[in-house]
Amino acid sequence: MLLSIPDVLTTEQVAQARQILDKAEWVDGKVTAGYQSARAKDNMQLPEGSPAARQLGDMIVAALGKNSLFLSSALPLRVFPPLFNRYTGGQSFGTHVDNAIRQVPGTPHRIRTDLSATLFFAGPEEYDGGELCVEDTYGVHSVKLPPGHMVVYPSTSLHHVRPVTRGARICAFFWIQSMLRDDGQRTLLFDLDSAIQRLNHDHPEHPSAVQLTGVYHNLLRQWAEM
Ligand code: NI
Repeated sequence: MLLSIPDVLTTEQVAQARQILDKAEWVDGKVTAGYQSARAKDNMQLPEGSPAARQLGDMIVAALGKNSLFLSSALPLRVFPPLFNRYTGGQSFGTHVDNAIRQVPGTPHRIRTDLSATLFFAGPEEYDGGELCVEDTYGVHSVKLPPGHMVVYPSTSLHHVRPVTRGARICAFFWIQSMLRDDGQRTLLFDLDSAIQRLNHDHPEHPSAVQLTGVYHNLLRQWAEM
């Protein structure tokens, strides 16, 4: 499931982040790429663990912890500390798949990348090109969102970023290990949860709501890995 999550950050948070990002020092993005993706990758990145990356990463992770659409769709177990990239002057990232396992820098922890996330910091009017294109069995999905919005998609997908031919595309990108490694199971629980929310809203006293909530939790109990 590819899902856009609107307003992860407020307008004020985006403005504050842009001030920091516009002053920051950027390095070659190949530093965090694997062998194969390094050949496809042409962008700039904030150094991992730099004060700016940490401060903004903490802001994003805190916002995600309060975002019910993110929590119900991703069922997150661990979130990788967000990284930040910038594409200008024709830069792009060719078709690749993200590494399955990532070491969390400065810790003994590794995460399995079940979901990939991109959070946009530049408005679509600020640059040309730079669409994130995600391939699945339904075709290629092109994504370019307003600042503060985020897209989440299965890390199993091939994807690329089209060349930025004007302006600068600035985003955060990171990965999520979900309690459910299987995208199909995750999608099914998300659909069930959404239907229960709607039922609770439209028919608050309906007895089936309790039963369906039971089914949701019992499926989650069967499938969740911690
Ligand atoms: Ni990628």
